[in-house]
Amino acid sequence: MLTRLQSNKLFSKVLLSRYNNGFPNLISGSQFLRGFNEITKHRFSVMSGENLRSLSNCASPRNYRVVVAATREMGIGKDGKLPWRLPSDLKFFKELTVTTSDPEKKNAVVMGRKTWESIPLEFRPLPGRLNVVLTRSQSSDITTGENVVICGSIPSALELLAEVPYCFAIEKVFVIGGGQIFRETLNASGCEAIHITEIGTSIECNTFIPSIDSSCFQLWYSSKPLEENNVRFSFATYVRVRSRTTDNYEVKDLSFLPRMIVERRDE
Ligand SMILES: NC(=O)c1ccc[n+]([C@@H]2O[C@H](COP(=O)([O-])OP(=O)(O)OC[C@H]3O[C@@H](n4cnc5c(N)ncnc54)[C@H](OP(=O)(O)O)[C@@H]3O)[C@@H](O)[C@H]2O)c1
Repeated sequence: MLTRLQSNKLFSKVLLSRYNNGFPNLISGSQFLRGFNEITKHRFSVMSGENLRSLSNCASPRNYRVVVAATREMGIGKDGKLPWRLPSDLKFFKELTVTTSDPEKKNAVVMGRKTWESIPLEFRPLPGRLNVVLTRSQSSDITTGENVVICGSIPSALELLAEVPYCFAIEKVFVIGGGQIFRETLNASGCEAIHITEIGTSIECNTFIPSIDSSCFQLWYSSKPLEENNVRFSFATYVRVRSRTTDNYEVKDLSFLPRMIVERRDE
């Protein structure tokens, strides 16, 4: 239960973070108040499962899932671009990262500055998602605004997303690349699942990422082999079964997986 003082402190933090981020448009007035009401409401009522899930998003820092397409050698890019053209992979990526179980919420996509710049101007920010762009530069020319936030490090992004109002308004967090960001996040303890499009065809790349750590992650779903534009590929999902730090974390509740993944697996 939160005391009035704690509620007030959180409320101030909302105002402060909205001001600091220069990002007033992401959370509409109603969502903003909803976040605040969620906090105050919990002082008086029993929490529903949905509220509990929302509150677990307020655990700092946020957990996340990685979404990546990679060759067997873990190649993901060539000269700043994707080295393949797979419309069905783009469709899968969009469906996975946009879909929320609560229609009032959005998901967040976290990406490095170079991946942001690789998205054609007309397609960015990626619509229907909060775009979190990572840069160490203080004088970046990335335009913030509706649905775009800039963060200076991965931990600060995950902490921001665990704060009010984001922890109420953002349902899931997806780390979407590129190489530098995957190298820091792929096998890190906050990564609860990896959605990987496994490219079976040999394609030249010059951006690579580490392999999935099989002592921490277990294959949970793999689609049948597919082919498009002479590229063989399949969709796979790995889930964390063991934490590297505690060595005793077993996945029991897979409710964090997007429904589309669960449905595909059940087919
Ligand atoms: N196959 C896939 O699934 C996939 C997905 C995404 C991207 N890609 C490909 O990957 C390539 C781009 O990857 P990349 O490794 O060159 O670049 P990247 O990871 O997208 O971006 C690197 C930039 O992000 C910022 N950054 C990196 N680590 C940071 C940290 N810890 N904290 C704050 N900022 C940080 C830095 O920006 P500043 O220099 O501004 O400080 C850095 O220059 C492209 O070829 C792209 O097409 C592939």
